[in-house]
Amino acid sequence: MILAVTPNPALDVTYHLAEVVWDGSNRVGRVAARAGGKGVNVARVLAALGQPAAVLGPLGGRTGDTVREDLAAAGLRDATFAVCGETRRTVTVVDKASGETTVFNEAGPELTGADWAHLLDAYDALLPGARAVALCGSLPPGFPVTAYAELVRRAREAGRPVLLDASGAAFREGLAAGPDLVKPNADELREATGEADPAQAVAALAARLQAAGGDAVVASLGAQGLLAATRAGWWRARLPYAIRGNPTGAGDAGVAALLAGPDSGRAWPDRLAEAVAWSASAVAAPEAGSVDRTTYVTARAHVIVGGVEPPCAAGGEGAPARSVPLPALAADARKGSGTPDAAPVPASPIAPTPPTPSTAKDRHAPHRHG
Ligand SMILES: Nc1ncnc2c1ncn2[C@@H]1O[C@H](COP(=O)(O)OP(=O)(O)OP(=O)(O)O)[C@@H](O)[C@H]1O
Ligand SMILES: [Mg+2]
Repeated sequence: MILAVTPNPALDVTYHLAEVVWDGSNRVGRVAARAGGKGVNVARVLAALGQPAAVLGPLGGRTGDTVREDLAAAGLRDATFAVCGETRRTVTVVDKASGETTVFNEAGPELTGADWAHLLDAYDALLPGARAVALCGSLPPGFPVTAYAELVRRAREAGRPVLLDASGAAFREGLAAGPDLVKPNADELREATGEADPAQAVAALAARLQAAGGDAVVASLGAQGLLAATRAGWWRARLPYAIRGNPTGAGDAGVAALLAGPDSGRAWPDRLAEAVAWSASAVAAPEAGSVDRTTYVTARAHVIVGGVEPPCAAGGEGAPARSVPLPALAADARKGSGTPDAAPVPASPIAPTPPTPSTAKDRHAPHRHG
């Protein structure tokens, strides 16, 4: 079992509209509502990959009940516990005409010291049966900012590999406890390091992580794929084309893929290629936490993975990291991808992610799932 800790779960509501009118009234074509929050998305994708997953987190009120029912319907092991506040909702608006996705995140209920103690007890009880741990998303109001640091320490003491995917102060504190793996996106990288250049930011973060006893920074750069700095070396993994769809939750699918698979002996290039292909399949699926297998199969055949040189130390002479050359994608290869809107991605893999017509999330960076 892989344990996905979601301290601030949500009911994710997705509105699919043909075209959004922001200053007028809109008719909503299709509404999807289901259990969400980053850890839930990760657990769903793990289940789709055939890996048993448990969700640990607080749930409250009627929204909490709906989330709990949906976890059971998704075949996830329910390790949630009851709290007094009402579980939050997130609303995602998908505008088919523009290809843009906008996310509204409620903060979540104010939780208590007793709720935090409850989570710690449940975590300790689950750790022995977990082969890996994912700590995902925002912390609810009322939890200590050091919450992830404490959970990382306990996983390490129990000898369980632990991945942290969070942002802001909770991420910085958690990083200092030395998780095995962190998966920041481009905004989180910048926020954590103050570095605009992704390669320099990854280098700075990897230095901090490894000094704390951790291993790998796997940075996701939207349609530009992944840049990984590990104790075993640096790699770049990406697709030669972008996929049009809903990129919310693509990072969560990547997190699931990084943790799935054999316990040991899997080389980084293979892990990264799997993460890029499953992330792409999540973009093609309409809701966060879902994957599209046809897109996965085509993407897996097209992922390009290569070793790269780390950049010179920040503040030094500053030679940029070497990029992996990208061959042009044959038109017929794209036709078979199940993604007719696929468009080539500019071939400067380590440059800051440019906005592409197909990745609205790049243009709406502040709207994150928590
Ligand atoms: N338009 C796209 N086409 C193909 N692959 C994509 C696209 N957008 C994202 N990806 C893949 O998904 C991965 C994760 O994307 P991104 O960096 O946006 O994650 P994120 O911001 O953490 O997502 P979230 O937190 O919503 O799950 C990328 O590294 C890339 O491999
Ligand atoms: Mg993310």
